[in-house]
Amino acid sequence: MRDIEALHEPLKPILTVLLATLAPSEGPLLDVGCGTGAKAPLLRSTLELSAPLIGLDCDLEALQEAVTHAGLLAVAGDAHALPLRSACCGAAVCIATLGLLRDQRVALREMRRVVRPGGWVLVVTATTAWVPWSAHMRDWTARLGNRGDLPGELLFTMPEAAADLGALLRETGWSEVRTGAFVIEAGSATQPVLPLLTREHVRRHLTPAKAEEFEAIVACADVALLPLMLAAAGV
Ligand SMILES: C[S@@+](CC[C@H](N)C(=O)[O-])C[C@H]1O[C@@H](n2cnc3c(N)ncnc32)[C@H](O)[C@@H]1O
Repeated sequence: MRDIEALHEPLKPILTVLLATLAPSEGPLLDVGCGTGAKAPLLRSTLELSAPLIGLDCDLEALQEAVTHAGLLAVAGDAHALPLRSACCGAAVCIATLGLLRDQRVALREMRRVVRPGGWVLVVTATTAWVPWSAHMRDWTARLGNRGDLPGELLFTMPEAAADLGALLRETGWSEVRTGAFVIEAGSATQPVLPLLTREHVRRHLTPAKAEEFEAIVACADVALLPLMLAAAGV
């Protein structure tokens, strides 16, 4: 497995859940900064894509591989000035790329321009943030996550870490924006990738007794610098 694929392995469970919450793409799906097309199998299977998958990247060598190995329709270009007609795509994803761009607003506006009205975007990018966390809290959320009966929207928490990304999407013409931040358990196959839970969220979804348990855990949590994956989706 290539380096980037190994690095991105922990993102896959989150990506799968996020993609599953989105409507089928009505028209081609655009992968902005597709690289070698490593996410193509996941995008195709989770979204049950029947429309073409278009990969855009400025790296011609990576694009060549995206065509040969992942079967993408390749478009060479710059995310800041997409060489595509307005409203020609059903939806867009931008995975592990936004953070590399010179002007994220320009790129997000460009995505809004080429995605048809009503179509969505999913932006996923990594960062680090200081968040309250502790082994105790981790166990608690792991137990919660393992129950498997939680509503899908639980993954779209509203932690401050992701708020900026949500604000960026709103500023650039996207609406119905949902955001979430997820702890990346890099390098561990056994630890599930867990959603961060906010107080507001917990109150909405848990019984009063469980919410009280959560509050007690938060009260004694450490503040740690964690690698996070930020995600935002908009229409
Ligand atoms: C970390 S890779 C992510 C690749 C792919 N999305 C994935 O998840 O495997 C970032 C990609 O963004 C591309 N990229 C960076 N700046 C770009 C720009 N201004 N326009 C288009 N692509 C760009 C790079 O060439 C690289 O392929």
